[in-house]
Amino acid sequence: MLDLFADETPWSEPLAPGAVILRRLAREQSAELLVAIEQVATLSPFRQMVTPGGYTMSVAMTNCGPLGWSTDHRGYCYSPVDPLTAKPWPAMPDVFCKLAQAAAARAGYPAFQPDACLINRYQPGAKLSLHQDKDEARLEAPIVSVSLGLPATFQFGGLKRTDPLQRVWLEHGDVVVWGGASRLFYHAVLPLKAGNHPQVGPWRYNLTFRCAT
Ligand code: SIN
Ligand code: FE2
Repeated sequence: MLDLFADETPWSEPLAPGAVILRRLAREQSAELLVAIEQVATLSPFRQMVTPGGYTMSVAMTNCGPLGWSTDHRGYCYSPVDPLTAKPWPAMPDVFCKLAQAAAARAGYPAFQPDACLINRYQPGAKLSLHQDKDEARLEAPIVSVSLGLPATFQFGGLKRTDPLQRVWLEHGDVVVWGGASRLFYHAVLPLKAGNHPQVGPWRYNLTFRCAT
């Protein structure tokens, strides 16, 4: 599918101390990223995980890289093994690593070496409630978050759950990086509106790169 906006030049928008939105940065590689997502999902399928509180998440997830994030009734954890397949998570595709490193460097975090990539798949209505990413051992490394497919409203708050939330409309190819002073800021994704993305179809994907160990 020809992407008429493929050569739109990326630009940056500051979001918070240590946080920036790199608009359209992943567009050029989006076709490759989507193929790689499919390959990962063939080995470790998307699944709706259960929270420790017993809720089935509306977002379907899988992982790639040395460590994968998952949740079940016992709690959240990073593990080298996919609990569904009992095999190691699929390797992190090269195109993923390169993009995550380039995005982190642009945001002021050189030498970012992620060891975990969580892949979220949102169907219409799927959302992510307000949370912090705090299961990682190395909080000095940023979070790099890549959006593909249907647009969504991302909310970005502060260190306290009750801090005011900024609303950010994230589109295909947008990358958000947060670290430093905002590494532990609360964030959420509002319920996905139904639609059809020319390249991705009825979904939104999000890749979240972390240094978990
Ligand atoms: C996340 O917080 O893990 C995902 C954020 C997003 O989907 O944009
Ligand atoms: Fe998160």
